[in-house]
Amino acid sequence: MIQTIQQGAPLRGSIRCPGDKSISHRYALIAALAHGRSELRRFAGSRDCQSTLGCLRGLGVDIRVDGSTVQIAGNGIHGLRPPVRPLDAGNSGTTMRLLSGILAGQPFPATLVGDESLSRRPMGRIMQPLRLMGADIGSREGGLPPLSVRGGALHAIRYALPVASAQVKSCILLAGLYGDGTTAVEEKIATRDHTEIALCHFGAAVRRQGLWIEVEPAPLLEARQLDIPGDLSGAAFFIVAAALVPGSELLLPDVGLNPRRRALIDYLRQAGVNVAVENESQPAGEPRGDLRVQYDETALRDRLPRIDGERAAALIDEIPILAVLGSQAGGLEIRDAGELRVKESDRIATVAENLGSMGAEVRQLPDGMIVAGRQRLRGAGIRTEGDHRIAMSFSVAALTASGQTHINQAECADVSFPGFFESLEHVRSGDGS
Ligand code: S3P
Repeated sequence: MIQTIQQGAPLRGSIRCPGDKSISHRYALIAALAHGRSELRRFAGSRDCQSTLGCLRGLGVDIRVDGSTVQIAGNGIHGLRPPVRPLDAGNSGTTMRLLSGILAGQPFPATLVGDESLSRRPMGRIMQPLRLMGADIGSREGGLPPLSVRGGALHAIRYALPVASAQVKSCILLAGLYGDGTTAVEEKIATRDHTEIALCHFGAAVRRQGLWIEVEPAPLLEARQLDIPGDLSGAAFFIVAAALVPGSELLLPDVGLNPRRRALIDYLRQAGVNVAVENESQPAGEPRGDLRVQYDETALRDRLPRIDGERAAALIDEIPILAVLGSQAGGLEIRDAGELRVKESDRIATVAENLGSMGAEVRQLPDGMIVAGRQRLRGAGIRTEGDHRIAMSFSVAALTASGQTHINQAECADVSFPGFFESLEHVRSGDGS
């Protein structure tokens, strides 16, 4: 599907973002291992989280979906059943990497497959620690999916993560539930800690000791009723859109504000963007609040603060949309973000090429890019490579461009934000309430 977008009215009104994708995956996976029926409200309708539910069904878990409420009857930590066919993770790296940790502890073999994009993404980063724990894991050459996981009793390990990745950390912590002692993971750069928070909430013993996170095996996990906050990484597109289009004012109610995810808010404020947080609360250990963003013509005058080091890890999913923002502010330099090259697309290349085709000056670096500021964008044909964050980032770029922009494979936005284009249309019509 090609989506055509052009400059126009300010964005006004309120948008309810889908439930947080990272949290939805984790709650579903852990609820499947718990005793009793969990109820997960505002569960992400995103295609990625539906892939996780599909895989769990393939492992014999009873799941009922009613709108955005998902009920999961947990099988207990040793109650998953052998799948009769390969488990399909679709486009979702989180599904494949986190589920591999659980499968490594099962007394039966399983195969995990993914779509074309996922089949190009590196799995060696989880295969190595899982093999150290004693799991037998096969892949295509170069550690690429499909993965065959032949698990069983696992050894507890102490493992220092070579990459800053919440998915790898989470994979090892979930495998640690099946270890023969305390499993520990060290992260040099703090990444999102939804797995640690969720495991604790369902009853597992997880501790943070300095840079190490430890998990104890064989916990009795209990079913929970949980409300999932909105996805800040999805809200990011609307926050940036409102910061760019004169006259905009948007309310984004109940969005997740976990300290390991909210770097975006602090970053945008530093750039002068008028974004306020209201009604903060913290049910189930996951902070959340309402976001109100208002266009401010005095913002974005300078170069955006450089993104590198810990900030690159904290903003990893928001870098494509921040690159768009940088082209309209005084420019942006991004470094230490080589991980972007192994996301759903090579996001350094897809961002640079598409910004370039809109007339912006961008220089690619091996681990980042340099985006020139104050660029006049013109409408272009955007090649998303089927990457949801590229489709949404360039829909926002289109709002500032002259002429029409055509986004190819636009349906990929459903991977994380079903209804994205309808939401955008709704707030642009000026009466979004
Ligand atoms: C995620 C972790 C990040 C992020 C992805 C979701 C998660 O990936 O880019 O969108 O839910 O754990 P990495 O852990 O590979 O950096």
